[in-house]
Amino acid sequence: MSQTAERIETLLKERRTYQPPAAFKRTAHVRSKKPYQEASRDRLKFWAARAKELEWFKPWKKVLEWNPPHAKWFVGGKLNASVNCLDRHLKNGRRNKVALIWEGEPGDRRTLSYWDLHREVCRFANVLRDLGVKKGDRVAIYMPMIPEVVVAMLACARIGAPHSVVFGGFSAESLKDRINDAEATVLITADKGYRRGQVVPLKRNADEALKETPTIRHVVVVARDGKGSEAAGIEMQPGRDHWYHELMSRASPDAKPAVMDAEDLLFILYTSGTTGKPKGIVHTTGGYLTHVTATTKWVFDLKDDDVFWCTADVGWVTGHSYIVYGPLSLGATVVMYEGAPDWPDKDRFWEIVERYGVTVFYTAPTAIRAFMKWGPEYPARHDLSSLRLLGTVGEPINPEAWIWYHQHIGGKRCPIVDTWWQTETGGIMITPLPGVTRTKPGSATLPFPGIEAALLDGDGNEIKVGGGFLAITSPWPGMLRTIYKDDQRYRDTYWGRWPGKYFTGDGAKRDRDGYFWILGRVDDVLNVAGHRIGTMEVESALVSHPAVAEAAVVGKPHELKGQALVAFVILRAGVSNRPELADELKQHVATKIGAIARPDDIIFTADLPKTRSGKIMRRLLKDIAAGRALGDVTTLADPAVVQALKEKYEEQES
Ligand code: WTA
Repeated sequence: MSQTAERIETLLKERRTYQPPAAFKRTAHVRSKKPYQEASRDRLKFWAARAKELEWFKPWKKVLEWNPPHAKWFVGGKLNASVNCLDRHLKNGRRNKVALIWEGEPGDRRTLSYWDLHREVCRFANVLRDLGVKKGDRVAIYMPMIPEVVVAMLACARIGAPHSVVFGGFSAESLKDRINDAEATVLITADKGYRRGQVVPLKRNADEALKETPTIRHVVVVARDGKGSEAAGIEMQPGRDHWYHELMSRASPDAKPAVMDAEDLLFILYTSGTTGKPKGIVHTTGGYLTHVTATTKWVFDLKDDDVFWCTADVGWVTGHSYIVYGPLSLGATVVMYEGAPDWPDKDRFWEIVERYGVTVFYTAPTAIRAFMKWGPEYPARHDLSSLRLLGTVGEPINPEAWIWYHQHIGGKRCPIVDTWWQTETGGIMITPLPGVTRTKPGSATLPFPGIEAALLDGDGNEIKVGGGFLAITSPWPGMLRTIYKDDQRYRDTYWGRWPGKYFTGDGAKRDRDGYFWILGRVDDVLNVAGHRIGTMEVESALVSHPAVAEAAVVGKPHELKGQALVAFVILRAGVSNRPELADELKQHVATKIGAIARPDDIIFTADLPKTRSGKIMRRLLKDIAAGRALGDVTTLADPAVVQALKEKYEEQES
């Protein structure tokens, strides 16, 4: 049985439902189905009402201009994202409210009020302007989870320079490719970060990347542990590299915000696709900010006394939308933590929840499965009674993990919002509203008001009940506008299948109540521990090793990570298989892309199963990797290849 079939089977057995608790419902922002009705009556009016909750320098003339596949939202409107996240809270009584509660992995702590954050952002906006950064120039950010990464992002937004945040776990080579694609002129990094007790040498990695990034003129380096404790061995190239604290000490805390058009670029964020080259997903200002602000408010039901903790890294879209832009635009208090959940012990997250009285907690199913494996004694050590709402994102959640989360973290009193969305969608798309929606473990439930989703078959016919491809059938404010410098790829990837309808790359099932059950990717993208990884990217990394002639990468089910990578490798003629070669290849991939892409298994083979036209049959490789009985092999050029491979893999596993 395939992995998808297995998931369908489990889901079919899942009949438990959970009503929003009465106490929760009483105070929720959304208590009735009215927003759904309003949005379906007049979707544009609904979104315009959400946009009006932001502060605009100049109102828009038209809500939507849709020339498929290109959308413009809030046409003619002018605003600035940093003004919405900061300045407006200086006037509405929140200026001394805590914006960020930060905790470093080693245990250091800082809190910044909205006023503090405003001053820092303005100073850094001035620093960037002094370094010659102008509206429209791209700025790359490669940082640990420290407050300065938020300062850097908002300072870019303030001066209208699109940021491109590169996850700090990516390798030098990945950083280099992303800098070069965006032609960034400035890089902001740190001397180091901490992860699971280890130092992450960000500046050293950056220096490696900077050998081949001709567009970079300046590098700003944050001293992670402050002035005077700069990491040893950091080389600063005179004229190019500058210490953040030195530049900041001379900068003024007032900076005029750039007046941005609603459709001006806010950021580029690279994500994996089905080719070897990551896609620069382009998000603009007005629609994106409207979408993330509205969803943060309603999905997480944020109020002024909430303490919101989204455990994602800012290097991913979840961090952009639900650590930075959504919560700060609402004036919320946000918790930010630098390190690993099991450092120094497996109760670190629960210690943080208790210490700061976190009320709304948002994490990934892969983390929940790890908590389950570690055991309920870790959360039980702490008082988690401040929690009132839980969320998940990033991959399908299995009902057992949902129930465990509900019981051991939520004390059976917290609703759970399973939120489906993507880097491309900008914000949450399919989700419960916690005061309204009856939830079913494993289902992301229904589209957010104003979002239109459908299941389609290969010909584009709608499937009301059953399985199909998940599509979004009308434009939405937070949608990607294009792929940076590759509009053709944008058209082909997302809009090529069904004209005017967005193809998500996910398969899903819809039940009789209209609930969506996301099954996972149907393309050559894998989801390993909630991180998107393209099989082609890993294959290109493998064939760049001198010993490798050909490689095929597939996913296999993994208890904690959801999926793990298995690589089938053909060695070059004359290369003999040394015992340490498998480890060397795994390390090679980690060095090329980042540790998140390290394959779990490498299978050496003399041949790969191909169709008569020469296409690798991934479906068969997946069956082999998952240890399942083989599917149909009649279209294979040489069926014997498969049997031999399967025997080899089973031998290696045993
Ligand atoms: C998967 C992360 C099931 C899906 C925000 C999607 C999910 C990909 C869910 C996007 C969910 C995300 N249930 N699957 N609640 N949320 N996914 O771009 O396959 O890193 O296409 O964005 O994650 O991953 P990305």
